Amino acid sequence: MSAQPIQILLSAPGQQALNAIYSQFIADRRLLVVGLATTLQMLEQSLQAPPEVAVIDAELLVDLGERGLVEFLSSRLGSCVAIVLLPRQLERMAGAIGQLDRVREVMVKPVGVAQVIDRCYQIGLSERVAREAMAPATSRAMSALAQMTGAARAVAFAGTRVFAIGGGKGGSGKTTIAVNLAYRLNQAGIRTLLMGFDTPDAVGVQLGLPMAPNSLNWFRRPTRDGFAASLQHKDGLDICLSPNDKVEAARIAARAPDQDGSIARLTEAARDHHPPYAAIVMDLPPTESEWSIQPLLRANTVILVCEPDLASAVNLVSTIRLLTGVFDPRYQVPRDAIYAVMNRVLPEDAMTPKRMQEAIREHLDGWAPPFVAVIPNDPGVRACQMDYIPPVTRRQEFAAGIDQIVDFFYSDILGRPAAKAARSRRFMGITFRMVQ
Ligand SMILES: Nc1ncnc2c1ncn2[C@@H]1O[C@H](COP(=O)(O)OP(=O)(O)OP(=O)(O)O)[C@@H](O)[C@H]1O
Ligand SMILES: [Mg+2]
Repeated sequence: MSAQPIQILLSAPGQQALNAIYSQFIADRRLLVVGLATTLQMLEQSLQAPPEVAVIDAELLVDLGERGLVEFLSSRLGSCVAIVLLPRQLERMAGAIGQLDRVREVMVKPVGVAQVIDRCYQIGLSERVAREAMAPATSRAMSALAQMTGAARAVAFAGTRVFAIGGGKGGSGKTTIAVNLAYRLNQAGIRTLLMGFDTPDAVGVQLGLPMAPNSLNWFRRPTRDGFAASLQHKDGLDICLSPNDKVEAARIAARAPDQDGSIARLTEAARDHHPPYAAIVMDLPPTESEWSIQPLLRANTVILVCEPDLASAVNLVSTIRLLTGVFDPRYQVPRDAIYAVMNRVLPEDAMTPKRMQEAIREHLDGWAPPFVAVIPNDPGVRACQMDYIPPVTRRQEFAAGIDQIVDFFYSDILGRPAAKAARSRRFMGITFRMVQ
């Protein structure tokens, strides 16, 4: 299935200003301009049939006054989301406007058209992805969750696909896959947050980030600002590292999931952040700790990473039993939220996903998770990580493995393979290209 272009409403203060940007918008086949406005009246009319993303030039709204402008953006956008272009004299309003429910981005003029186009695509796609996450497959999982009882009942997030990358075995490549999946999703235009839960933090080490800021900023000040202060950024990807402090981590782990400042509440803060993330990728520690249990309670997609050997098959069985609550009622992951990835596969390996499924089925009442990707063992992966380069941007076969995961969950929405989506995506005027 090929994805429909994102429907855009374009506005500008006057025909000349509109002409200057319109030609570039229609040249981009990822977008379809469905409405044009050069006056407030035209803007109101165009919003009657809401596009997916509206580019609103605030100069059209200045006659409404500052309160009127905020009022308009709060109440008149209907179901669409907006990028607001602010004239420089209104720059001080950027923070307040950026917090509005339907506003996804505020840019102060002058802005490059290529940058606005790129943001339109990313925002429109992320909205679609978020809607899809509420579609049937997930709502089935949600209703299964809703039937559960007990204090530790799982609460999955609608609208945001929250991936937990786990697996019982240490060193299978969980962090590598979490980092590269998140990086790739973001490259493909899906607004993504990468979160680390391992102490010491493993995510930042692969991306060459400093140890702070990290989620301690939120644990010390569990507010929206505290969450924003906990984030780091790399190539447009938002990242929330784990606290790099064992003592603090143990203290936080003692808080029950429903208590203020708990690990589960951190994942809720991430889900509720504005502008919203379409995907959250959580790198879980190998141990059975609160730092793994609480994020799992809030995930709606669990990816178990295993290696192609018998020890991993045994491990997979016990991890799935654990996750589904067989041993410990604090774990409540429904089976249809569990997927597997086979990592570090060599050409001579005899263990295929099919054989792995056969091996584990007899221990799980005939059930086995679907394998969504097979990722080759590539010594170049570690070499890239030594240089803090995400291998998905350099190692073609490894990238093809990561793209299998992206395509499994998002091919309908992307409308083309992840590799293509990522390769052609411009970010802030720079074109990313795969190095072959
Ligand atoms: N597909 C791959 N090909 C080659 N090496 C890989 C691959 N995936 C991971 N590795 C390497 O395996 C090692 C362990 O990877 P990683 O730290 O991602 O595993 P992990 O499961 O997160 O470990 P832990 O259980 O300690 O959290 C790293 O040196 C990494 O470079
Ligand atoms: Mg790890």
